[in-house]
Order: sequence, then C-alpha cells, then structure tokens
Amino acid sequence: MLRQLIRRPLEYTLAWIGIYDEVVRPVGWQGTNMSERSGTFADDPFSGRHPTSHERMTGLPWDASYHDGPAPWDIGQPQPAIVRLASEGGFTGAVLDVGCGTGENALHVASMGLSVLGVDVAETALAMARDKTDDRGIEVEFAAADAFHLERLGRIFETVLDCGLFHTFDADERPRYVASLASVTEHDGTLYVLCFSDDGPDTGPHPISQEELRTAFNPRNGWNVAAIEPDRIQTRYHDDGAPAWFATIKRI
Ligand SMILES: C[S@@+](CC[C@H](N)C(=O)[O-])C[C@H]1O[C@@H](n2cnc3c(N)ncnc32)[C@H](O)[C@@H]1O
Repeated sequence: MLRQLIRRPLEYTLAWIGIYDEVVRPVGWQGTNMSERSGTFADDPFSGRHPTSHERMTGLPWDASYHDGPAPWDIGQPQPAIVRLASEGGFTGAVLDVGCGTGENALHVASMGLSVLGVDVAETALAMARDKTDDRGIEVEFAAADAFHLERLGRIFETVLDCGLFHTFDADERPRYVASLASVTEHDGTLYVLCFSDDGPDTGPHPISQEELRTAFNPRNGWNVAAIEPDRIQTRYHDDGAPAWFATIKRI
C-alpha cells in the first residue's frame, strides 16, 4: 500500500486518504486551475469536454488514475455489493454501467448472460476493460462516453449502474448528470447507485448523505428513490471497505 501511495501524484493520494479538502485545498496547494493547466497539454486530455469537479480538484484528468498501477478503487474484481445484486436478479434487460473503469462490474453482469455496455471517459481504463473481455471470453461492449451526455449514445437501458461515479460529482454537477441518466433509462427501469456514505468511521472521499441522494433523484426530475441501504465499497486502502449507500432508484 505504501508503494501505491508514493507512486501517485500527491494531490491525488491526499484526496483519497481524505485530507485534501481539509488541509490542502484551503491553502491552495494546486496553484494553477485546470483550465490554465489543460492549455499546456499537447493533446486535449479531456477530448473537448469540460473537466469535472474531481479533475479540477486533483489537477489531473481521470485517465491519469489508470497510468501507474491500479487506481485506489480498482480492486481487480467486482464489488461484492454488485455480485450480490446480480445473484439476486437485480439486473434485467440491456444494462449500462456508467463510469465502468476497468470493467469488473460490467464483466460480471455480462458473464450472467446480460447485454452490457460500459462507458467511461478514461481511455486507458477502457483499453484494460477490453483486454479483459478478450482474456476471459466474455462479450461486453466498452465505449468512451461522457456521463453528462449519455443521450449521445442514442440507446435506452432497462438497468443502469453507477458504481462509484455519482459521489465524484459536486452538487452543481448532479442535476446535469441525473438528467443525462434519465435520458437513457427506460420508464420503470432501475438505476443502482453505490456511493460512499457519510455514515460511519473511515469514510471514503466524497461521502454522500442520504438527503443528497434524495435531493438529486426525485419525482420532479423523473425518479423515485425506492431504497437506500447501508453497504460497503471495497477499495485498495480500506481493510474492510468504506461505508457506502446502495440506492435503488426507479425511473418514472
Ligand atoms: C471511482 S471510479 C469507479 C470505476 C468503476 N465503476 C469501479 O467500480 O471500479 C469512477 C470512474 O468514473 C469515470 N468517470 C469520471 N467522470 C466521468 C464522466 N464524466 N463520464 C464518464 N465516466 C466518468 C472515471 O474515469 C472512473 O473510471
């Protein structure tokens, strides 16, 4: 674990172990803002999209998370909460995994015979995910797409999974993300959100309250929160995972 921490950019690691917001950001460690910084890249690391709040906070595009060994959330297997949900028949119809990372959850769901599309902005993660589909002989589609513009996929899904993405967006970004999710979720379809919770010791970065989930998803914007259950998100830095909410949200 120590080697992992040292190899990563310091701002990024501090964000993950939870002291960036309290200690670093107030004194302006980052120094440059993301729009200044993005102008210095030979290629646009954001492929024309606006950097997310997480990218502005860390000073790095999401793709960089996948450059130096496994990212903190990349545990090399599906999240136990997703495995449990899949075994209970929670996934039906066409499935979209938004912010799929290196694809472990999508691959697991697809291994049960479902049609799955995983999307992400990190091309490096998508390349790793595609390698896994080849190695494991599981049919899954992985594509680059921005979670804020899922309507551009031109497709509709009965089940949508967000495992660890919602909590990376700040309150200003959430309405656009939620509208984007609504554009690709069938009426009466189901969205599952597994996110870090604010309830319990050793919380992960970006802890979310139940109230924030209910504010983001409500009947006025086309959603009914059916359930929010306490759960865990496994990471490479928590022995027994971090406290999480597992939200089941129905599209009206
Ligand atoms: C915390 S990781 C979780 C990855 C994966 N779901 C997992 O459980 O391992 C969040 C993922 O969302 C992706 N992401 C962040 N912003 C995104 C956006 N605007 N559109 C699509 N994917 C995004 C990141 O590249 C990253 O792979």
